[in-house]
This record gives sequence, structure tokens and C-alpha cells, in this order.
Amino acid sequence: MPVFSELRPEYEKASFSCGVSVLDSYLRERARLDVKRGLCAVHILAEGTTIIGFYTLSAFTLQLQSLPPAIAKKYPTNLLLPCWLIGRLAVDTKFQKQKFGQILLADALHNIVLLAEKAGGYCVVVDAKNEEVKPFYEKYGFRPVIHDNLRLYLPVSSIPAF
Ligand SMILES: CC(C)(COP(=O)(O)OP(=O)(O)OC[C@H]1O[C@@H](n2cnc3c(N)ncnc32)[C@H](O)[C@@H]1OP(=O)(O)O)[C@@H](O)C(=O)NCCC(=O)NCCS
Repeated sequence: MPVFSELRPEYEKASFSCGVSVLDSYLRERARLDVKRGLCAVHILAEGTTIIGFYTLSAFTLQLQSLPPAIAKKYPTNLLLPCWLIGRLAVDTKFQKQKFGQILLADALHNIVLLAEKAGGYCVVVDAKNEEVKPFYEKYGFRPVIHDNLRLYLPVSSIPAF
């Protein structure tokens, strides 16, 4: 049965392949260092030592001007909005289209709800790698920020129940 955990040495990072080479090389070459440096947490979904998918999570800030004026006007001008970033999220091609992407996103959002209860945060931010993947996030309620078509946000208060 697939389980979530931190990135462990026994996981087969080298054979992970999601179709986007920068995400594969991130997992192989940078993920462990990013965790060590406190830049993010890496969450792995694995079956045995096989990595099915992963996502990264970190604290983040968003310029208020990135949000639609109707939302931005509720906050003090020039505020940097505290939020949470799902910096990377990927499923190995062997496991794509089997709902593992949804399972990863649901786990990330669940963790963010728990974090937000203790530490606040207005929204969740994701950076879609390309236009093709945007609809995956939009399906769960994410919308583009102003002036950056590949950066999407979802208010914590609008996180869907899975
Ligand atoms: C995008 C990705 C994470 C989706 O994972 P997946 O396991 O194949 O997706 P799921 O099976 O969980 O799909 C869940 C739902 O999202 C939809 N979906 C998946 N990928 C989609 C896409 N690119 N566009 C639109 N909808 C998509 C599915 O149709 C499914 O909808 P349904 O519940 O109505 O059937 C995966 O394709 C991937 O890792 N791609 C390469 C890396 C990448 O681009 N990551 C995103 C970087 S920001």
C-alpha cells in the first residue's frame, strides 16, 4: 500500500520519471539539500522503495497586487500576504492517470489546513510548469494570480473537501 513519508535514502530516486525533466532532476539532485537548508519539506508517496510521486511544501509570501482588486482591497496596502507554496508536484509516468496526482494534492492541502490552523496563511500558491498542467489545478479551484499566468492560488478558506 502506498504511504507518505519524508525523502529516505532507500527510495529509488534515480528511476523516477514524470515527463518533466526539471522535476526529475530536482528530486534526484536538489530535494535533499533543500530540506537540509530549511527551504521546503519534501513529501514522498511510495510503495516499498518505488517513488510514485512527490510534492514540496514551504511558507511563502505573495504581493497583494497579485490578487484580484476585490480581494486585495480588504488588506492593508503593500502587505506581503503570508501563504503556503506547493513548489513542485509530480507523479511518475507509470502511475499517472490513476488518481495519484489528486492524492498528492489532497495530502498537501490537508497539511496546509493543519498548518494554517496554527500559523495562518491566506492562500495556497502553485507554480504550474506549463499551460497543459494548469487545468489539473483549476479543477480543484485554483485560479491564476494577476500578471503571471502560470502562478495559481487558492484561498485556504476555499480548500475543497476530497
Ligand atoms: C499533473 C499530474 C501531477 C497529474 O497527476 P495524475 O496522477 O496523472 O492525475 P490524476 O489521475 O490524479 O487526475 C486527477 C484528475 O485531474 C485530471 N487531470 C490530470 N492531469 C490533468 C491535466 N494535465 N489537465 C487537466 N486535467 C488533468 C484527471 O483527468 C482527473 O480528473 P477526474 O477526477 O475528473 O477524472 C501528472 O500528470 C504529472 O506529474 N505530470 C508531470 C509533472 C507536472 O507537470 N507536474 C505539475 C508541475 S506544477
